[in-house]
Amino acid sequence: MESMKRAFLKIIILGDSGVGKTSLINQYVNRQFYNEYKATIGADFLTKEVIVDNKLVTLQIWDTAGQERFASLGVAYYRGADCCVLVYDVTKPTTRDSLDKWRNDFLEHANPLHHDKFPFIVIGNKTDLQKNAENNAIAQSWCNGKGNVSYFETSAKNGNSVEEAFDTIGQKALEQD
Ligand code: GTP
Ligand code: MG
Repeated sequence: MESMKRAFLKIIILGDSGVGKTSLINQYVNRQFYNEYKATIGADFLTKEVIVDNKLVTLQIWDTAGQERFASLGVAYYRGADCCVLVYDVTKPTTRDSLDKWRNDFLEHANPLHHDKFPFIVIGNKTDLQKNAENNAIAQSWCNGKGNVSYFETSAKNGNSVEEAFDTIGQKALEQD
C-alpha cells in the first residue's frame, strides 16, 4: 500500500520587521516584487504546488509579522510546522543578531519533538543592495553551530537564489514530515 504521507507541508517564515519575508514569498509564489513596504499584521499563508523528490506536494507558506506589537498574533500558527525559515537583512547586522531570538521563539511555541534536529533555513536577503563577505561568514558560522540549518543569500527584488532556497525548504520539510 502507498504510504499515507501528508499532501502538504507547513513552512513558517520568521525574522525582524522589514527584512523581506513577505517579499520573498511574493517573489517565489507570484514572481512579483513591490518597493512599497506594507507591514504584515498577524499571520497569513500562501500555497504553492511543487515537485519534491518526485512527489507532488503543496507548500503552505506562513508569512508572519516581524513587528513586535503584531508578532504575538503569529505564535499560534507555529505548531505543526515542517520547516522554519529565519530571514535577516544583509544590510542590517542587527537583524542577524535576532536570529537566536526567532529560533528560540519558534522552538518554544512550536515545540517540535527534537529541538536539535528540527530543520531551519537561514536566508540573508537583499543581496542586490550589498554583499558583505565578512558579515555573511558570521551568519554561516551561526548556522554551522546549530545543527540542521542551511544558509542561503537571496534578493527578493531580482529573484536571485529565491527558487534554490525554497527548493531546499521543500526538501527539508519533506524529510521532517
Ligand atoms: P514585516 O511584515 O513588517 O515583518 O516585514 P517583512 O519582513 O515582510 O518585509 P517586506 O517584505 O515587507 O519588505 C520590507 C521592505 O524591504 C519593502 O520596502 C520591500 O520592497 C523591501 N525589500 C524586500 N526584499 C528586498 C530585496 O531583496 N531587495 C531590496 N532592495 N529591497 C527589498
Ligand atoms: Mg511582511
